[in-house]
Amino acid sequence: MNWKELYRNKLTTADEAVRHIGSNSRVVIGHAVSEPTAVINAMVKNAEQYENVEIVHMVSMGQSPYCLPGMEKHFRHNSLFLGASTRQAAAEGRADVTPVFFSEIPRLFRTTLPVDVALIHVSEPDQHGYCSFGVAVDYTKPAAECAKTVIAQVNRNMPRTLGDSFIHVSNIDYLVESDDPIIELSPPKIGEVECAIGKNCASLIQDGDTLQLGIGAIPDAVLLFLKDKHDLGIHSEMFSDGVVELVEAGVITNKKKNFHPGKSVVTFLMGTRRLYDYVDNNPEVEMYPVDYVNDPCVIARNDNLISINSCVQVDLMGQVVSTSVGLKQISGVGGQVDFVRGANMSRGGKTIMAMPSTAAKGKVSKIVPLIDEGASVTTSRYDVNYVVTEYGIAQLKGKTLRERAQALITIAHPDFRPELVQAFEERFHSKFS
Ligand code: COA
Repeated sequence: MNWKELYRNKLTTADEAVRHIGSNSRVVIGHAVSEPTAVINAMVKNAEQYENVEIVHMVSMGQSPYCLPGMEKHFRHNSLFLGASTRQAAAEGRADVTPVFFSEIPRLFRTTLPVDVALIHVSEPDQHGYCSFGVAVDYTKPAAECAKTVIAQVNRNMPRTLGDSFIHVSNIDYLVESDDPIIELSPPKIGEVECAIGKNCASLIQDGDTLQLGIGAIPDAVLLFLKDKHDLGIHSEMFSDGVVELVEAGVITNKKKNFHPGKSVVTFLMGTRRLYDYVDNNPEVEMYPVDYVNDPCVIARNDNLISINSCVQVDLMGQVVSTSVGLKQISGVGGQVDFVRGANMSRGGKTIMAMPSTAAKGKVSKIVPLIDEGASVTTSRYDVNYVVTEYGIAQLKGKTLRERAQALITIAHPDFRPELVQAFEERFHSKFS
């Protein structure tokens, strides 16, 4: 049977497709802005059909209706990274959190968390019957490869991204056509503080470096200050619209990359339609599963790899908390440690932890004598090197505990320096200078 016949035979409605999800099964949803909204909505609309379905998902950029109050009997969300729509459910006991490095999620699906159903969102098939995973290859492709049943939303708005990012129609069980707009993320507001952080980070970046950037105001602010650099490259778990601007400005060329030269390598994307149009059928961008892109050994094959991530708290020893405020889980490790480790092993690489010096509208310092009770260390003091705030740069590797504490106090908000100095002097029995 040719793929067009297969396609016609597998085509169904969302309501019909979700009947193939069984009670007590494990369902994995395509990541971030690739979640198949039409299929998820049908599953939740038909919630009465199911009992105790485990919904595994990482960053959810949609509404996550399966973890709203009233859904407890039907669904239990297992989050690999909490976001705006899932934090409350976790805080109120309606969702669980599994700590896991992004790079290790595919292995979990192949071993301890076998996938019953993968709900994915793909582009239209090409002339050979291959659909592209579009904006998220990451764990989404590996989940589809090991799931017992694959339900795909096929969407003309999904860009056809290149790399190891395809699934053949023959490997999909049920196809649902629905051309919803792909979820877009509006560019964040960049204020004075973010600009100062961006400028400090940019001072650590040289022409020809390869960058990993996260999402949000700080990475976007860093990009603003890279306009006078030359031949930068990208090897990142994700990127957003800011990268498109620098490609168009001729700053990101990937020419100097020693690994995948000429290509931006990435595992998922989040941004506006401008980004999705840029990556569509674009050989400058290659997408691979996350157990490749985020493997620290693969990252380290890029010389001069600069990783830039953000965090919630740093203590005076350089221990970094990124996923919780005290005991309250707010996000997940994602690729932070994958990239910190890869950058540390990269020849000429640097790892940067960039954050505003305060949180909660200036009421608390992010640099603290001790991390909050209940908080978990995300990146250890052995892995951390550069910590950047709007007040400067603290370089920690090779420094004693006393020197680290001094360097960190120097970049703390001036309002909090006196109490940090007091903690320093009590602890180290020496004067702060
Ligand atoms: N004390 C108390 N509250 C704090 C705090 C602190 N030290 N630091 C942050 N918060 C609060 C903020 O006030 C905010 O609360 P609100 O939602 O009520 O306003 C909330 O925690 C989130 O902080 P914010 O600074 O707005 O988060 P962000 O969007 O800039 O993200 C991280 C920062 C650290 C949460 C995010 O970068 C992350 O999850 N990192 C880990 C994963 C990672 O690095 N992945 C790799 C790159 S994709």
